[in-house]
Amino acid sequence: MEHRVDLKTAALSQTSPGVTELAVTANRDERTAAVVEAVLHGKAIAIPFAKFNDGRGFSIAHLLRSDHGFRGEVRATGHVIPDQALHLLRAGFDTANVVNAEALFHWQSSLAHYKGAYQKAVRNPLMQRRLATQRIKGEQRAAALSEKIAKTRDLTQRVREIADSVEGRITFSTSLGKEDQAVLHAIVSAGIDVDVFTLDTLRHFPETLETLERTEKHYGIKIRVVTPDPMDLEELIAHDGEFGFRTSVNSRKACCMIRKVLPLNRSLKGAAAWITGLRREQSAERADVDHAVWDADLELIKTSPLADWTDGELDAYIKANDIPVNPLHDQGYPSIGCEPCTRAVSPGEDPRAGRWWWENEDGKECGLHGRERRLEVA
Ligand code: ADX
Ligand code: SF4
Repeated sequence: MEHRVDLKTAALSQTSPGVTELAVTANRDERTAAVVEAVLHGKAIAIPFAKFNDGRGFSIAHLLRSDHGFRGEVRATGHVIPDQALHLLRAGFDTANVVNAEALFHWQSSLAHYKGAYQKAVRNPLMQRRLATQRIKGEQRAAALSEKIAKTRDLTQRVREIADSVEGRITFSTSLGKEDQAVLHAIVSAGIDVDVFTLDTLRHFPETLETLERTEKHYGIKIRVVTPDPMDLEELIAHDGEFGFRTSVNSRKACCMIRKVLPLNRSLKGAAAWITGLRREQSAERADVDHAVWDADLELIKTSPLADWTDGELDAYIKANDIPVNPLHDQGYPSIGCEPCTRAVSPGEDPRAGRWWWENEDGKECGLHGRERRLEVA
């Protein structure tokens, strides 16, 4: 019977999701293939060590986290020893295989040695202390910013508050939907320095791409267009075909992961703040969206300056400022995503009812926001 040690909790488990194995010599293509396989099929990635001090296993685990943004289980198999528990955790491993009862005992006593740290699910205690301080400071700064934003309803003033409160790169992700067009207008009006980017999933409506071009001309700006990693995409299509996302929720999430979430993670790397166009009125899931929160996963302040704006306020702002919008909004599309996954809604229908309409309500997020990114798609 194979046992697995959870390196964070010291708990032992005999249940095992499928694994995809990745050699310590794997190159980037092979790593990509393993990540796609793991994401598509909910598998862990196992890295086999031929000898316990083979540094390549540690480097590969680190790259899966840093280069590919992989958030599923990474498992050490083969020749790993209990004394390496802390080192494995630091490199990004979640679990280690233990082969026999004797080894099991050694892992337990080694983990017990680090008991204080592991009981709190801590990886490296010093690193955790640094992260905890960063989190507390981040939450304080986010709360102060949230308060400042809530004091005014003027959108230009709101984005100025963001620029004044944040040190470092400020990013704005735009889907070119009407919320984001309003936020972009405010950013341009405020004259603040923001890295504006859009995630081109390569599945957008032509109207969305035309809106991109029109917007750039209207404001005399360049919007950074971020596309999916071609190798990730190739693997996805090889596994699921061009329209695999219709066959299961897992395949749909894998598609969103590769076309949107991983490119988003790459784009936000190193940023101090992220501006979004989220609004509470958009859905029940978004009813609690705050103006500014500390996102501990991304290590930045996530802001939603439109959080409390109503539909009426948004439409009036767009009209008053003659803001260019996607023509699909006037054809029954309040929320616009990829063409094959978005349909028009009837008057009175939920604004997001036209997104992934064949799925039930609870899963209808693509992973850019909310619990999905924390639950780990894989
Ligand atoms: S989604 O998660 O269902 O796709 P939605 O379309 O409501 O999101 O947009 C919410 C916010 O997510 C937008 O205001 C924007 O900040 C970000 N976003 C969504 N899609 C994109 C995209 N294609 N490119 C960049 N940002 C996006
Ligand atoms: Fe793929 Fe549809 Fe998600 Fe777009 S919305 S990334 S096509 S599953």
